[in-house]
Amino acid sequence: MAATRRLSHTVAVITINHPPVNALSASVRHALVKEFGEASKDPSVKAIVLSGANGKFSAGADIREFSTSALKTISLEDINATIEASRKPVVAAIEGIALGGGFELALACHYRVANAQSRVGLPEVLIGILPAAGGTQRLPRLIGVPAALDVIVQGRHVPATEALQLGILDDVVQGNVVNAAIQLARNVIGRDLAKRRLSTNHVPSNPHMDSFFDTAVDRVKKQYRGARAPIACIEAIRASVQKPYHSGLEKEKQLFASLWASGQPQAQQYAFFSERSVGKWTHPSGGRWDTVAPKPVRTAAVIGLGTMGRGIATSLARANIPVIALEQDAQQLEVGKKTVNGLLEREADKLIKQGLVPDTKLASVRFTLDFAELRDVDFVIEAVYENMALKKEIFHKLSSVCKSDAFLCTNTSGLDIDEIASVTKHPDLVIGTHFFSPANIMRLLEVVRGRHTSLTTIATAMNLGKTLGKVAVLVGNCPLFVGNRLLGPYLEQASYLLEEGCYPEDVDKTLEDFGFAMGPFRMMDLAGLDVGWRSRMEKGLAGNKVPLGTPARQRQGNRYSPLADMLCEMGRFGQKAGKGWYQYEKAGGRFAQPDPWVKDFLQKYRSTHQIKQQPTTPELILEHCLYGLINEGFRVLEDGIASGAEDIDVIYNNGYGWPKYRGGPMYYASTVGLSKVLDVLDGYHKQNPDVPSMKPAFLLKKLVAVGEPPIKEWRTQVGSFVHKL
Ligand code: 3HC
Ligand code: NAI
Repeated sequence: MAATRRLSHTVAVITINHPPVNALSASVRHALVKEFGEASKDPSVKAIVLSGANGKFSAGADIREFSTSALKTISLEDINATIEASRKPVVAAIEGIALGGGFELALACHYRVANAQSRVGLPEVLIGILPAAGGTQRLPRLIGVPAALDVIVQGRHVPATEALQLGILDDVVQGNVVNAAIQLARNVIGRDLAKRRLSTNHVPSNPHMDSFFDTAVDRVKKQYRGARAPIACIEAIRASVQKPYHSGLEKEKQLFASLWASGQPQAQQYAFFSERSVGKWTHPSGGRWDTVAPKPVRTAAVIGLGTMGRGIATSLARANIPVIALEQDAQQLEVGKKTVNGLLEREADKLIKQGLVPDTKLASVRFTLDFAELRDVDFVIEAVYENMALKKEIFHKLSSVCKSDAFLCTNTSGLDIDEIASVTKHPDLVIGTHFFSPANIMRLLEVVRGRHTSLTTIATAMNLGKTLGKVAVLVGNCPLFVGNRLLGPYLEQASYLLEEGCYPEDVDKTLEDFGFAMGPFRMMDLAGLDVGWRSRMEKGLAGNKVPLGTPARQRQGNRYSPLADMLCEMGRFGQKAGKGWYQYEKAGGRFAQPDPWVKDFLQKYRSTHQIKQQPTTPELILEHCLYGLINEGFRVLEDGIASGAEDIDVIYNNGYGWPKYRGGPMYYASTVGLSKVLDVLDGYHKQNPDVPSMKPAFLLKKLVAVGEPPIKEWRTQVGSFVHKL
């Protein structure tokens, strides 16, 4: 039954029951119409309570229905209009979540009561659409334009206490919310409901509203470059001020239709479902980690409190997991301690400002120099320098100090997990947990399984990722794993473009206009050019073994651009040095300015080595950088390093600033057309046989040959390659 009805004295309680999240699918909408209609007609019913089963009010419209004809049967807004017009008072009893259409349903009720743990919100913007069942018209009428704009454009989940302060809720209760709603419903029987019908109210407005909306549009254009939904949300709210309710609703519908036609919602909804399906991978043993129970993580330890360790310790403490943080000397320990405590304090202040009670405890992080203190922890995350010998020394020590069933994890960004595990007594308990910087903010966690990693270890690491609020993606063990491996050809192409006539700002602008949070050169400046330089020197690619400035084409073998190495030789390490591909106002400054020195340097380089300038267009820049990255994605699939194209997309959406409204690199390739990607790569590779990363991947050729099946089916085409696992 999608919705049920029972009678509590004179109050009918209608309960939505559609696991797992009470999405408002066609069956639920039908059931709501039926139950509400009968309750309205029943003379013994004097008031109605609307609630949700299984601890949730509703997560809103059924997103899977958007691309089907089911959406057209009974509109949610028609149901909302009927509820609002009811002469019997209707009270929403909100437990857990009331999101999207679920919240819009609650807004149509005359009163709203929630339990203290619940959250309400209109997160439609996060899946590329706008609230489309009157939410953009009713919420501003309830709480005013600025607050409604903040809630709708951010798509954030508003905690019950804040929702009470904003005037969204009439009451927040600690106990049984349905009983509280029944009580409220009884109290309001016979009251005049006119003022409680939001659609008949005016939106509080002022003479400067237009410029307020214009400023908001400018802000979101900068913040969410290229994304259409946030702008549509603002325009719909603008209509709530300028037009009567029904015209505003019409505008909401038009904006929804034009968003749908843009293709962005489809990409974002693909991203939404991909996040929920990632890493569901069959182990070579035949088992699936997601069918195995994770072990509880009651205590954790972090080794090394540098850039990453600090963020990881903060994330653990925030999730209320007691942490022991270990450093190599007293001075580093003190610096790490100050930073971690500072981060936790700032987060607590933020929550207090939102009227919430922070439950993270500074005391839950203990700082030490002594490995013996780790003897009882359940889960250790190592985040020391990226050096194999050092990591092996640490893991050897951990293996003898920690209890025999402790999980031992490394935050390495690309070293061999099996080699690290080889020095431990229980390689089955060793796994990579690759956090992204800053680790207390970035959502992505690559969970890297080694050859011997057990299903329980995988399940425990994946579950911890969820507890920390991360999107955990299970990947295989290969140099640089998935995200950083794909970045190689992307950065390589960006560098070749400079050799051939572009400037850093041209390349960055094109990729930022495409929607990336940051172009490749700004990204390298931010991360520090010396990191890659050191690793290239270790591999003998840069430094003494190669004469400085030898251009790629004059070398034997594969093409190699020495430009980044040359910058490093001159101390241009990026933002931290105040100069890199750009210049900054000072060392550590944030505002990248094109640097005439770099222009001059590139011109001299090209003329010294007689490199002919190639004509470039934004399209060419995109094709070279993105198709190189995508091609590597196909190779990752061939190698069985990611379980599906969706996994690669989730990694790029959440860890590399890829615009979500383009779905991820593999989804983007499917929208461009695989045969076009193949043609471009083929053409490039024929002209540049010394760039192996652009040689079309076998899987790409195969997918084109079998008629470009939908992305969900790529996995099956991969099947025949997975022998390399
Ligand atoms: N429609 C369809 N399926 C949904 C759904 C929805 N609105 N929300 C969640 N699901 C599914 C998930 O895909 C997942 O399915 P699976 O088990 O097959 O993988 C299952 O429900 C559980 O979801 P989560 O794994 O995400 O569970 P969590 O407990 O971590 O999170 C949640 C629950 C906070 C509700 C989260 O799922 C969420 O944010 N959902 C989307 C909410 C949303 O965007 N609502 C707006 C919908 S659009 C709308 O209402 C339009 C309206 O304006 C007309
Ligand atoms: P970092 O240089 O900022 O910090 C490393 C810390 O480890 C230092 O504080 C150092 O004192 C400590 N340390 C060194 N030897 C130790 C020992 N024997 N015992 C205890 N502590 C010791 O390094 P960062 O950037 O935090 O990187 C750590 C790991 O995370 C590396 O493997 C790196 O590749 C990886 N990583 C780094 C990312 C980044 O953006 N910085 C992103 C993702 C992964």
